[in-house]
Amino acid sequence: MKSYEETLKLLQDKGQTQLLKYYDELSENEKEALLEQINNIDFDVIDAGIAAMGKNERGSFKPLKALRIEDIEKEKDKDLETGLDAIKNGKVGAMLLAGGMGTRLGSDDPKGMYNIGLTKEVFIFQRIIENLLDVVNKAGAYIELFIMTSDKNHDKTVAFLKEKNYFGYDEKHITFFKQEMAAATDRNGKIYLEEKGRVSTSPNGNGGWFASMIRTGAIERVKSTGIEWLNVFAVDNVLQRIADPVFVGATINHNCEIGAKVVKKAARDEKVGVMCLEDDKPSIVEYYELDDKMMDEIDPETGERAYNYGVILNYLFNVKALFRVADMNMPLHVVEKKIQYVDDKGAVVKPEEPNGYKYESLVLDMIHMMDSCLPFEVKRNYEFAPVKNKTGVDSVESARALCKENGIEL
Ligand code: UTP
Repeated sequence: MKSYEETLKLLQDKGQTQLLKYYDELSENEKEALLEQINNIDFDVIDAGIAAMGKNERGSFKPLKALRIEDIEKEKDKDLETGLDAIKNGKVGAMLLAGGMGTRLGSDDPKGMYNIGLTKEVFIFQRIIENLLDVVNKAGAYIELFIMTSDKNHDKTVAFLKEKNYFGYDEKHITFFKQEMAAATDRNGKIYLEEKGRVSTSPNGNGGWFASMIRTGAIERVKSTGIEWLNVFAVDNVLQRIADPVFVGATINHNCEIGAKVVKKAARDEKVGVMCLEDDKPSIVEYYELDDKMMDEIDPETGERAYNYGVILNYLFNVKALFRVADMNMPLHVVEKKIQYVDDKGAVVKPEEPNGYKYESLVLDMIHMMDSCLPFEVKRNYEFAPVKNKTGVDSVESARALCKENGIEL
């Protein structure tokens, strides 16, 4: 345990002494907790994040062909058989990314606890587990489910799922683990206090999930059960098809290290990241990186736009390939967010507008670490209903409408 003096010295070196501003007002326990928290901060993340800002150097882009719905239909029987076989043999695990804060939705509870029901309770977690159970029942075998949480929502998530009896999932096949946290700063890189005795931290993005699996030991479950593929997915898509046997089979049969579920863009300039090749490796080109020429480029074989398929955060990763890249550094993204802080007068403020930065790594950067990728088209209205906001685009309202369209009672 480092002393006050040692901690002060560290903060002087890092230019972050504001973190001890209210130290004298704290109880002995709070003092100890704050010193420990400060000494656990990874200051390099902040320096690296700020240094990388605005320097998003990209390689040269080329189109990457997607397996379109009509192509999928042609090889469906074979892929279904391969996929179901892999699932029956326990080679596929489901990896739920549920460590995010869901700040846009504005609920203090974990996003999965959000009730989208109208006449009855339908929780987001419930929708996900029901969809996964469809495959479990079809395959006649349980799929290992991994749930990543963070310090901010772990206890509530675990308690909620237990109270709901895991919505019918066998708890023997569920493994929880926590992701890491990163300090949050103002726009000058000064770390915020979220309370007088607590540094403001937030989950370090969804890109660290495999590293966190290794660090927490959750990976032992992957190894002991012989899982070869991990289907990574977001908590907030209430129509998500997980461990979809045809998708699994197609990724295996096309000899790809990763499969990515994609949807056709709704418009040439839709604001979604699009699958592509970057320096001949799979990647995602952001909508603001697509110039007019790329936006209008046509694939001569299909007559469709060449950059036409957006990702929906549903990826099937080959575990061997994940181990191969496990030690590689991931790019850091500095994201503007609303961050609770203690103001100059010592009052806790919950801002209405973004007031600083969080430092995150993103799962989509892992795609570029893989050698080959199969973009696999799914019907947008059938598989993509993200709940990001309360109203408007990608909201509780739009997700409810899509559930209705798919005959799901709410
Ligand atoms: P989002 O990018 O929507 O972030 O996450 P968020 O934190 O949930 O929501 P906002 O931006 O604050 O409103 C996409 C997926 O990645 C997970 C989320 O739980 C969601 O499933 N995620 C995000 C993590 O698991 N960890 C993180 O640190 C961030």
